[in-house]
Amino acid sequence: MAGTATGEGGMAQRTEDGRGRVLGGGVVMPLLGLGVWQAPAGRGTEQAVRWALEAGYRHVDTAQSYGNEESVGVALRTSGIPRDEIFVTTKFRPASRDPERAAEESLRRLGLERMDLYLVHWPQGGPTWMWPAMERVLERGLTRAIGVSNYSVTDLDAVVDAATHPPVVNQVQFSPFQHRRELLDACERHGIALEAYSPLTRGRDLDHPVIRDVAERHGRTAAQVLLRWCVQRDVVAIPKSTRQERIVENGQVFDFALTEQDVAALDGLDRTGGTGRALERPWW
Ligand SMILES: NC(=O)c1ccc[n+]([C@@H]2O[C@H](COP(=O)([O-])OP(=O)(O)OC[C@H]3O[C@@H](n4cnc5c(N)ncnc54)[C@H](OP(=O)(O)O)[C@@H]3O)[C@@H](O)[C@H]2O)c1
Repeated sequence: MAGTATGEGGMAQRTEDGRGRVLGGGVVMPLLGLGVWQAPAGRGTEQAVRWALEAGYRHVDTAQSYGNEESVGVALRTSGIPRDEIFVTTKFRPASRDPERAAEESLRRLGLERMDLYLVHWPQGGPTWMWPAMERVLERGLTRAIGVSNYSVTDLDAVVDAATHPPVVNQVQFSPFQHRRELLDACERHGIALEAYSPLTRGRDLDHPVIRDVAERHGRTAAQVLLRWCVQRDVVAIPKSTRQERIVENGQVFDFALTEQDVAALDGLDRTGGTGRALERPWW
């Protein structure tokens, strides 16, 4: 991974180029990645990943439950970009019960010897039962880092307490409208990077007047403002698109900065009451 760590006592560590976050354990995670949930397996996913890599992304987020790991693998292999320059995440589907075997199967589908990040997709059956096997996946070198997704503050406390190798990432729904401050604070307290899924609110709130106003003042798009709000506070963001022009647009967030007033206006949009919960209505 490109970049050198720069630390500021107790704060999240960034790479020198400002585009990566150093995880606990020293692995560098690019602050922006492409999400491929609901990207169709085959050409749809292959093209999206290829366009993202061409646009400079070096990070792809897939999952066992998305059904498109093979297509991600094809795009990675045909890109011509060295494997160690691309950060690949996949996620363990808890219903399948065996994180180790599921990791081996993911690697086979992806065509990789090792992934960069392996996440528990959601805490079905409790937050800790799968953690010893997740740690074995790390110890066997099948992944460079392990983490969780959809974990609330109490779930995080439980897994950190039980762990030999604590999670280094918690991937949750996060945007100005889902600004889960208590959860973000708990992540930082535990040295866990918060990763924002649905950072574009799945497109639902892109027309909000506050977002539009900030975007107009910077000559940017609403999507770029939402993504900049994340990366500026060291929150990793993984917007999904299967359209080339949007993938390019979403990748252009490192050449402008929101002011303190912009950030305050965006922070004021939270609808969660600053919750420590990962989701208002869990689906598992
Ligand atoms: N861990 C979990 O449980 C979990 C849950 C949900 C998502 N995720 C991850 O997070 C990723 C992103 O979240 P998400 O897919 O829920 O939502 P999102 O990234 O917030 O929004 C995606 C939607 O916005 C549209 N869009 C993308 N760029 C746009 C732009 N510049 N302007 C206007 N519309 C735009 C996309 O349509 P087009 O494709 O047509 O452009 C799509 O409908 C997923 O792909 C997945 O990798 C994880």
